[in-house]
Amino acid sequence: MKILLTGGAGYIGSHTAVELIGLGYDVVIVDNLRNSSEKVLDRIEMISGKKPVFYKIDCCDRTALEQMFSKENIDAVIHFAGLKAVGESCSIPIEYYRNNIDSTLALLDVMKKNNVNNIIFSSSATVYGAPDTVPIKETAPVGRCTNPYGWTKYMNEVILTDAAKADPELSVVLLRYFNPVGAHKSGFIGESPSGIPNNLMPYITQVAVGKLKQLSIFGNDYNTHDGTGVRDYIHVVDLAKGHASAIEYAMKHKGTEVFNLGTSVGYSVLDIVKAFEEATGVKVPYRIAERRPGDIAECYSDAQKSKEILGWTAQYNLVDMCRDSWNWQRKNPNGYEG
Ligand code: NAD
Ligand code: WQD
Repeated sequence: MKILLTGGAGYIGSHTAVELIGLGYDVVIVDNLRNSSEKVLDRIEMISGKKPVFYKIDCCDRTALEQMFSKENIDAVIHFAGLKAVGESCSIPIEYYRNNIDSTLALLDVMKKNNVNNIIFSSSATVYGAPDTVPIKETAPVGRCTNPYGWTKYMNEVILTDAAKADPELSVVLLRYFNPVGAHKSGFIGESPSGIPNNLMPYITQVAVGKLKQLSIFGNDYNTHDGTGVRDYIHVVDLAKGHASAIEYAMKHKGTEVFNLGTSVGYSVLDIVKAFEEATGVKVPYRIAERRPGDIAECYSDAQKSKEILGWTAQYNLVDMCRDSWNWQRKNPNGYEG
């Protein structure tokens, strides 16, 4: 069976490619390399023994997509491609809406023309906005987004759901990821942010490797167990395995289904710093800074539905996440650029 990974050269896509190849799937990657490196293809081969077929294509380009679909006999699509930086989405909102929504519309058109009926979409816990209660179930209210990036995820969920309502053949799986961290245990693939990282774990690993001086902890006066923000960190390899389960599910069902991919456990920023230091033996100097605008106190999943219906549960713990993030950073201090 052949799976198309749009955005497959990126952080989550590359780990999913490794997982799928390991399970015997044929993998085709489409990526415009806007936020990734072609070097990842060799790294995937080093781990899995197989280099995915690669097309350097912008997913908004229908003609290029059509040419690719006519060459490859695709059975299912995982749509990772998208721009994902919250802050940047506030500076260049139109580009975010165009890229993240046009790509989905083009993909749906071309899939229909080619009779490809299964799509898994990379959604995000960001669609829940500031939740009324935690842990968050899939039935919690959505669409209270606070930035253009979040709205693109919400709007894509609506578009895909409507497409499946109109087309009884279509199977849509919406996966709402919580906070992906970690890397493949080989240290060959991982997250390679451009510029100064926005997210906590890459910031910590860059402090640990000496590229950044100290971590700023954004607020210690939240209503949480130690005052710092609480999130549901999930190992990227667990996330990748969740996609394999979602493909199996999509092939057997029609219509739209939504699943949280998280661990159901929340850790604070200070918990993460402490766990990182214990797992790696490396000190992470930090200071307490102002709250970051738009941040919420607590966000973690109830992942029971994924367990019951997909048969998927996260296996890796916080020590694994810290150790593997560090192993990747240590071996690749400049990401794929080094
Ligand atoms: P990433 O930036 O590493 O990967 C996304 C890939 O998509 C990149 O390789 C980029 O070059 C490519 N891309 C972007 N626009 C494209 C286009 N128009 N055509 C072709 N390729 C394009 O990000 P990631 O962390 O691997 O995230 C994958 C998906 O998961 C994204 O949709 C993201 O919004 C979503 N997501 C990520 C997180 C997270 O924290 N990493 C959390 C929730 C959801
Ligand atoms: C985690 C915690 C920060 C950096 C973002 C997106 C979300 C999703 C995942 C895509 C918070 C604190 C962080 C730092 C800090 N992406 N922090 N110092 O904000 O939960 O989610 O990534 O869908 O949409 O918003 O993740 O890693 O940025 O922050 O204190 O330098 O770490 O305040 O409590 P976040 P994060």
